[in-house]
Amino acid sequence: MEKYVIRGGNRLQGEVTISGAKNAAVAILPAALLSDEPVIIENIPTISDIDWSIKILNCLGVEVRMLNRSTLWIDPKNITGHTVPYELAKNMRASYYFLGSLLGKIGVADVALPGGCDLGTRPIDQHLKGFAALNAVDSMENGIVHLETEHLTGNRIYFDMVTVGGTANVMMAACKADGLTIIENAAKEPHIVDLANFLNSMGADIMGAGTDVIKIRGVDHLHGTQYSIIPDQIEAGTFMVMAAATAGNVLIRNVIPKHLECITVKLQKMGVTVEEYDDSVRVIGGAPLQKANIKTLPYPGFPTDMQPQISTLLTLAEGISIITESIFDSRFKYVDQLRRMGADISVDGKVAVIQGTGRLKGAPVKATDLRAGAAMIIAGLAAEGITEIEDIHYVERGYDGIEKKLRALGADIKKVIIPEEAVLQQAR
Ligand code: EPZ
Repeated sequence: MEKYVIRGGNRLQGEVTISGAKNAAVAILPAALLSDEPVIIENIPTISDIDWSIKILNCLGVEVRMLNRSTLWIDPKNITGHTVPYELAKNMRASYYFLGSLLGKIGVADVALPGGCDLGTRPIDQHLKGFAALNAVDSMENGIVHLETEHLTGNRIYFDMVTVGGTANVMMAACKADGLTIIENAAKEPHIVDLANFLNSMGADIMGAGTDVIKIRGVDHLHGTQYSIIPDQIEAGTFMVMAAATAGNVLIRNVIPKHLECITVKLQKMGVTVEEYDDSVRVIGGAPLQKANIKTLPYPGFPTDMQPQISTLLTLAEGISIITESIFDSRFKYVDQLRRMGADISVDGKVAVIQGTGRLKGAPVKATDLRAGAAMIIAGLAAEGITEIEDIHYVERGYDGIEKKLRALGADIKKVIIPEEAVLQQAR
């Protein structure tokens, strides 16, 4: 096992280039199955969720070749299976996308209920409701969701809540359904638009992605394509907060500033300078940080995936800030870790009250999930002294080369191996 060791206090300076979006890539790889010809996908981030996605594709008989560090060639012509076993599905939430893509491709799917970050209950009832509307029957045995259909048929689907996974999953299956599917109350996240663009580049007929009504007219055949994934909104937002937390001056390249607007506006309100360019943003910290109230919401609202990072920044601000988490039931697990570093935060259900103390002190902490891990890194970069972060495998699920990128910006961060004896002692 490994951990990050960070000596805090260095101002981040220089340039960083953002990788392809995790949450777009983990939908686009399963969607590639729908093609009848090979596809090439560029700007794939090097993260463990992609490794797991490739393992699942391989297990289904799909040929995958790495053309270079960020480009995959995927040939789904000879797909042989329709089962994603628990050993693979448990490693990431996005394994649920193989339900929609397998259903669309071959009309049958057996996918173990997905794993992923523990953010409270994460049902998939809306996905199943959508598949049922498209004329698929579902059942569940031994933790495996079974879906099958004689013939997918377009329909009107209204989601009870905005669901990213549900929208993407139904969109994939509906591409191959007979006739028109209309998804209402659809998610509008940038990765939903990216998935729709990818599917359209293979010959799908999807309109309205990025609005709350998406119309999909089914087609018989999807063909090969060469497609480049959008930059990662959350990785970019995380580096923006890192620059702010260290009173730094960082040019964040390969971003879509429009996707970052809700983060930019909050940072500016807190006293951080954010300059927008065509495909980059410069973040300059150093002015006293002001308190802010934040409520997470579906896009274009403030993303839940940035909540732990911005909360950490607010511990460094003057005054009381209130954070309301409205997407997930349990996304404040990291607060106990921040308290170890001197943060003053109280949590009541989905609301956290942060009394800014202006400083954090280094301590041994752990990543409780992916974005919580990013929050610990931010805390460690800003803190006085040394912070050691365990369970960094969560961070590696979604941040491409984060420690290397941070070192290039002047951070004192290294990854060290935890001796086996220490791991065993902790387990006792
Ligand atoms: C996606 O999760 C992302 N994961 C999450 O990214 C992100 O936090 C989340 O969307 C919200 O933006 C991927 O894209 C792989 P939802 P997902 O369906 O699809 C409830 C990260 O850090 N719901 O939009 O699981 C659900 O419980 C992560 O990168 C149902 O009740 O999220 C939640 O409260 C973690 N029934 C809300 O809706 C359903 O059938 C939104 O969930 C589906 C969802």
